[in-house]
Formats: sequence, C-alpha cells, structure tokens
Amino acid sequence: MTKPNTAAAGPAGRVVFLAGRGNLPMMEITTAWSTAEIYLHGAHVTHFQRKGDAPLLFLSQCSRFENGKAIRGGIPVILPWFGAREGLGQHGFVRNAAWELQEIASESDDSVSVRLAFSPGPAAAMHPPFEASYVVTVNDQLELELIVTNTSATDTLVFENCLHTYFFVEDITAVSVHGLKGAAYLDKTANQARRTETDDAIRISSEVDRTYLDAPGAVEIEDARIGRVIRVEKENSASTVVWNPWVAKAQQMADFGNEEYRNMICVESGNVSANRIELPPKQTSRMKVRLGSAPLS
Ligand code: BG6
Repeated sequence: MTKPNTAAAGPAGRVVFLAGRGNLPMMEITTAWSTAEIYLHGAHVTHFQRKGDAPLLFLSQCSRFENGKAIRGGIPVILPWFGAREGLGQHGFVRNAAWELQEIASESDDSVSVRLAFSPGPAAAMHPPFEASYVVTVNDQLELELIVTNTSATDTLVFENCLHTYFFVEDITAVSVHGLKGAAYLDKTANQARRTETDDAIRISSEVDRTYLDAPGAVEIEDARIGRVIRVEKENSASTVVWNPWVAKAQQMADFGNEEYRNMICVESGNVSANRIELPPKQTSRMKVRLGSAPLS
C-alpha cells in the first residue's frame, strides 16, 4: 500500500479521519465549496453537499453500517457484476469489501482528491484477477473515476461496473429525469421486457427499475420542490439505470424506511448487461462520472 500522503491534503482540517457510523473508518472532506464523507468500507461516498445547497445524496436512516453489509444510499460501487448472480451476492462483492486509502492530494484549484484501492481477498478468488482503484475529487462538483485493471496475462476480464448513485430529492412526485429519450431499456418490473424511452421528462409514480443501454449521454434530474437540477455527466459509461422502489418494495427492504422512496431516486452510471466490458489481458478501463447541480431556471 502507498502510504497516505496526508501532508498533501492542503490546509489542516481539510481531511479528517473519524470512526464513522458502526465504528467504520471514514473521511470527512471540507473544501471551499462543499463537504463530503467517504467510508473505506466499499469506498462508499455517503455524503456530498455544496455550501448553501441541499445534500446531493440520499442516505437511508435505516442503513446498516456493518462489515460485510452494503450501505443503503450514497454511492455504492458495483463491481464486478450488476444485479443477481446465481449463488452469489447481488451487485458484486466490492461494495461490501474493505478498500485501502492510497493517496490524498490537494489540487492547485483547491479540490481535494482521494484515491482508494481494492485489494482482492478470498471473495474475489472465483473471479479472474483484477485490481480496482477509485479516485474521488471534491470541489463544487463531485467527480468519480473507477479504474479497473485486468491483471491476468492470458484471460479477458468480462465485468460490469456501476456507480449506483442515490440522489436526494425533496418529493419524488415533483421530479423529472431528462436525457434518455430514444434509448432502449430493459424493464425489470416487466420481466426485463425491452422497450424504448418515449418521454423527454420521465416522471415517477410507481416502481421504476430500468436499465438503459447504449446511453452514454448526460442525464439531468430536475427537482421542482428544491428548485435545482442535478447533472450527471459521464465518460466510458454506456448504461444508465433508473430506480425507485416505490411503496411495496420499500416496505420489503429492512434497511430502507417505508416512506423514504419519496426522498430518493437512483440514477446509476455504468456498463451493465449488453454493455458489459470485455477487457483484454493487462489492460485498464476507466469510467468517469461528474455530478453537479445548479438552480432550476
Ligand atoms: C438497482 C436494481 O440498481 O438496485 C434494483 O436495478 C435493485 O433491481 C436495486 O433492487 C437495489 O439493490 P440492492 O441489492 O442494493 O438492494
């Protein structure tokens, strides 16, 4: 492990190491524009907030904070598979794994960047070997880069990735999602039926669980109640997943409040299903996602 370069973090107090919820190690980052919190467990960003703005991310009040369990909310890192795998945990093992802090850097513009690395343990043994690192940059936006290297000298690494971002919204019925019109999607609420998005402005009034394929463009989430638009920009991400569990599913989830579906929407950036990545031996894949917000005009 590279020794964390805390001296490079800039003025004292910009990055503070704490025992977070469930006593899990976390970092609290403060910049001129914003605050953020990152847990080493799952390399999980649980909080980002610009000064004077509402939190960008939703975090369930019922979330577990426990080794081996996924955090409900924030940004789970989904790797190396998305969704169910027979006999294996949903959404891969990386979101439940301990990541290592490799480096903290303060950029010339006063952004703070944190680099975390995933060290494959016994859980990864059934999967072709890979290494992952994750760079989180905090400024007036939140920038996330997930880097996966196929360490095999002979085998192609076939994998899915996804930054399963839970956004905070004031009232889901006042929200619309833009940027997906014309994209094909798999509808998980209808046995993965393949459909095409016809709406400019997607509104949520029941359970939504859609995997949009070949959809590399930016997506915007308009929240008329908060009066802001969240913009999700991405590089090397061909899929977008939109999810809200609505009433019945919320009631079935032990780590999610019955009413919390009103305050969240997942707009997830990744490469899943037919967009999965086939990475040749010794090659590296990088996916970048930038999350920003502005007042709704
Ligand atoms: C979404 C899936 O990405 O994640 C949903 O599309 C799933 O089907 C949701 O229910 C939450 O998954 P989990 O494993 O965190 O409960």
